[in-house]
Amino acid sequence: MPLHAKVDETHGPAELSVNPLYCMDLPAVPEHQIPAQPMQPDAALALIRDELILDGNARLNLATFVTTWMEPQAEELMRHCFSKNMIDKDEYPQTAELEHRCVNILAHLWHAPSAASEHSTGSATGCSTTGSSEACMLGGLALLWRWRARRQAAGHGDGPEQPNLVMGANVQVCWEKFCRYWQVEPRLVPMEPGRLHLTAPEAAAHCDENTIGVVAILGSTMDGSYEPVAEIASALDDLQDKTGLDIPVHVDGASGGFVAPFLAPDLEWDFRLPRVASINTSGHKFGLVYPGVGWIIWRDEAALPDDLIFRVNYLGGDMPTFALNFSRPGAQVAAQYYNFLRLGFEGYRQVQQTCQDVAKYLAAEIADMGPFELLSDGSDLPVLAFRLRNPEESGYTVFDVSERLRQRGWLVPAYTFPENMQDVAVLRIVVRNGFSQDMAGLLVHDLRTQVVALEAAPQAPVPLLPEGQREAFAH
Ligand SMILES: Cc1ncc(COP(=O)(O)O)c(C=O)c1O
Repeated sequence: MPLHAKVDETHGPAELSVNPLYCMDLPAVPEHQIPAQPMQPDAALALIRDELILDGNARLNLATFVTTWMEPQAEELMRHCFSKNMIDKDEYPQTAELEHRCVNILAHLWHAPSAASEHSTGSATGCSTTGSSEACMLGGLALLWRWRARRQAAGHGDGPEQPNLVMGANVQVCWEKFCRYWQVEPRLVPMEPGRLHLTAPEAAAHCDENTIGVVAILGSTMDGSYEPVAEIASALDDLQDKTGLDIPVHVDGASGGFVAPFLAPDLEWDFRLPRVASINTSGHKFGLVYPGVGWIIWRDEAALPDDLIFRVNYLGGDMPTFALNFSRPGAQVAAQYYNFLRLGFEGYRQVQQTCQDVAKYLAAEIADMGPFELLSDGSDLPVLAFRLRNPEESGYTVFDVSERLRQRGWLVPAYTFPENMQDVAVLRIVVRNGFSQDMAGLLVHDLRTQVVALEAAPQAPVPLLPEGQREAFAH
């Protein structure tokens, strides 16, 4: 045992002093105005970090599709790239090269034709974005520009017709934003009991000469189910045979674009279907990267009108760009490439398969519990949605279940379906990389405990949130 000598501090403190952070006499600072004076970095860090403890735990957030865990090596790589701006392609040509490689990897995964054929010039093109929302905006813009060109070629000029976009009412809000911002009529096909997403006959029936395209979702945000892209494309082929209308399909593969290639390789939903003009995905969902990266690929230059593209000088050459934002972090793109390199096809398959196994385990346990009925069981995306079998007689709601699970830290959203099925309220669980079988077992245990407690108090517990705030999860 070492002996410690007494330090003489009568002539001032020793070289290093202890910082009694939580006892410091710091001046109060305003919350909503910039403080007049600086403070020590450690004090600022502690203050903000402590406030953020009040946030939910990201790993227990079963509401989000977005990545909440990455390997430490990927985090190190991201730290290394935090200062790089994706748009500075002259200054960071190697980051631009990684983006180029990622676009090519996705184009191959999604079977973009690499040679000229009847249905394509074989020149797929694409880019990274901040997420699927921006990617969907770019995809929608290309459809809108192409419709205008078609109308003009047919001699209609700039007439008063309003363009429309056909999609299921289950679309993510980014498509409604696209329609509002660019004055396109959102032709939303309502959901119905037993039909929770867009079907082929409904898609074709809603199209006319002002339809810029049909959006088919590979992995509905509501329940994780895949829309039947091949059937939709085939119904549009028939429509073209009958009416001459040639309506392109954009596939919103925000989640499924990174799941189907690995778990359902024979499912034809991508550029194997000649009618699919463009596909988006979120690198930060099942692409397994932290928030901040999406991707979009167009089948060929015919699918992406040239006048949407801006050309910037790049290393003395010409660099075509299509983006809503200018500056954007480069770290996420490097991390996406890390995942491709690190996992390879087989690694991605294993990750997605594990998520699906966990989702199916949860689905089986929840179905077995008694009060719940499954609306999806993880067979497409590793996502399950379930509702109360007898909501009128249960004496509690799915919102009560959600609030009670939250007391243990689990964030399981409860929400109602869109128009036409607003009386259906569901709970949804998204299983992501890092949500282990062990964690799933704990969730099942907690869910059972809460169900027993709620059933023992059929007079319905006092809601923790006022009625109007109960749709807090709007995913
Ligand atoms: C089907 C679908 N499309 C688009 C989006 C928007 O994606 P992002 O959050 O990457 O902008 C989501 C997000 O959940 C989604 O599920």
